[in-house]
Amino acid sequence: MEYITFALAKGRLAMQTLEFLERIGITCEEMKDKESRKLIFTNEELKLKFFLAKASDVPTYVEYGAADIGVVGKDTILEEDRNIYEVMDLGVGKCRMCVAGPASARPLLESGEIIRVATKYPRIAKDYFQNKKHRTVEIIKLNGSIELAPIVGLAEVIVDIVETGTTLRENGLEVLEEILPLSARMVVNQVSMKMERERIGSIIERLRTKL
Ligand code: PRP
Repeated sequence: MEYITFALAKGRLAMQTLEFLERIGITCEEMKDKESRKLIFTNEELKLKFFLAKASDVPTYVEYGAADIGVVGKDTILEEDRNIYEVMDLGVGKCRMCVAGPASARPLLESGEIIRVATKYPRIAKDYFQNKKHRTVEIIKLNGSIELAPIVGLAEVIVDIVETGTTLRENGLEVLEEILPLSARMVVNQVSMKMERERIGSIIERLRTKL
């Protein structure tokens, strides 16, 4: 029997996924050791492998078949735009993709002016402004601490994830527009879905009943 391989987004989501998998009898004790720097783990009995990857790389591993199954946020799935099947909403890691900025940027969003939008998600931001709002904006790609951009004058607004809203509030910013709700999803390689339909299908079905 071949291994079924899971690519999990490193961090809290990976640990939550392990909890879900435990509910259907899939365990990987070794992976729970927070001190460990190990990246790949095996459950020989069930012929399963698990590896921890950077979230934005999970769709890539799954598209190329280096992992059969991945668990990652909807934000990353949309931004990476890989050829993979999204099979299940795990209902955890719930947050929203939003346009945010200082209250003073509100009229700018309504005007026809070209505004600068800082974001870690250029594809999502471009799609939103171009296809939903039908307007041209300048997208500035950043890699983190996006909230800084409007404060230091790099951009008028940002497109970013808002979970509790604390980061925005503590930096004098607010949600200006909501783009879409987000949560963690299970994704599957397109070939694996056919070749391992029974085993992968059974994992999905059993998980569905436990969510
Ligand atoms: C994310 C996001 C916001 C923050 C939102 O950042 O980019 O900055 O969390 O959470 P809140 O609404 O609960 O305050 P993350 O911590 O992932 O780091 P980053 O700045 O590197 O993107």
